[in-house]
Amino acid sequence: MDSTQTPVPCGAPWPHRAVWATAGELVIDGVAMAALARRYGTPVYVMAERDVRDRCRAYRSALPGAEIAYAGKAFLCREMVRWIEEEGLWLDLASSGELAVARTAGFPPERVLVHGNAKTPRDLAAALDLGVGRIVVDSIGEINRIAAGASRARPQRVMLRVTPGVTTRTHPAVATGGEDQKFGLSISSGAALEAVRRVLDHPELVLTGLHCHIGSQLGEVRPYLIALRRLVALLAEIRDRHGRVLDELNLGGGHGVATRPGGAALDVTRLGPRLTATLRAACAACDLPVPRLFVEPGRAIAAAAGVTLYRVVAIKARPGGGAYVAVDGGMSDNPRPALYGAHHEVALVGRRSEAPLRTMTIAGRHCEAGDLLAADVALPADVRPGDLLAFAGTGAYNHAMASNYNLVARPPVVAVRAGTARLIVRAETEADLLARDMAPAGVAVRQGRTVEPVGHPGKG
Ligand SMILES: Cc1ncc(COP(=O)(O)O)c(C=O)c1O
Repeated sequence: MDSTQTPVPCGAPWPHRAVWATAGELVIDGVAMAALARRYGTPVYVMAERDVRDRCRAYRSALPGAEIAYAGKAFLCREMVRWIEEEGLWLDLASSGELAVARTAGFPPERVLVHGNAKTPRDLAAALDLGVGRIVVDSIGEINRIAAGASRARPQRVMLRVTPGVTTRTHPAVATGGEDQKFGLSISSGAALEAVRRVLDHPELVLTGLHCHIGSQLGEVRPYLIALRRLVALLAEIRDRHGRVLDELNLGGGHGVATRPGGAALDVTRLGPRLTATLRAACAACDLPVPRLFVEPGRAIAAAAGVTLYRVVAIKARPGGGAYVAVDGGMSDNPRPALYGAHHEVALVGRRSEAPLRTMTIAGRHCEAGDLLAADVALPADVRPGDLLAFAGTGAYNHAMASNYNLVARPPVVAVRAGTARLIVRAETEADLLARDMAPAGVAVRQGRTVEPVGHPGKG
């Protein structure tokens, strides 16, 4: 990768403090990736702590006075919660499981927002028991259920998620601003206003504001400004009909990140001032006080802070030229390429190669022909089994979306900071996988082989 003798910054989409060092080594915030892979095994997710913190700070300084709620669905574990807490952000959570992580990490519940288009009774009970700061109402039927779990003495603050009818240029699977979709309540159909009326009827609920989330991996500022103006117009309509001035406006997340060197990103230094100015102007035009603005970035905080390391297992020539390079992970640790055609930069790390570049496709290990982690990437022609590959931009929606397909155990997460590596989520083990299987382990004994008993609660 690197033919110089001095470290060269990798640049986006690699973490801020990632450099190519001598001998093809990738060093992230002072930690060499080849040594880290030897110590923790592969695949392994690496999270650069100071990268996460830098991005939290960038949001806070580009949006002074606004609340930044990190969308925990992008990547969540107790250590990440601690970083988010220390950086003064809120948390946007979407299940009782995510709430359990925040609760057990000691995150202040008043800085938690709860989302979900199908919040289960367990999700709502967890949110209400914890005393979260806001529950974001996503359907009319949910209003009574939230009210039933709250009380006049301890009313629950809620926001209302609306669909502003904004179309965005992104993958259809992550476009959420248009009318026909599963999230939120339509402004144009009148459903949003009807929900406002019903929430206001409940003395157990306090309606603090409106919310929208128009999509993910968006590159343009404009759709946010359109959505913002539509939400301010709705705030004015609520005031006119109900005499209530709501004082919060949440524009969700979705801020795009660069996935290739020099690629486009929706930088918060560009977005922040435009949002603030447009909000002021729109409110002035409707004679409304300026509400407290919330944004909920997930990917923009976590994606570029993360790298995944894989070991090459097999190489196969392709009929039309090029090769398949099969690695020891795949769609179970990163389903995004198969789901959305997501792109990740890939590099050979840990050794320097002078071989010419060749087009290769990185294949995962799973029993799906579509389990391809990266198509047509340029790698040295002498890539061989045992080599280490690094994937950039895997900090968001990788660990969070991982599965056990083929009963492959999920990889660990290692945090790096100023020359130190620390295990923050341990690797799953085969014992973890077997622990949920309730049938007695013993069939193989009858076939003359022994089976190690696996102890778990509920089994003798
Ligand atoms: C309500 C809400 N807020 C925030 C986010 C975070 O989006 P992103 O990670 O693209 O910033 C999502 C993503 O699905 C979401 O649904």
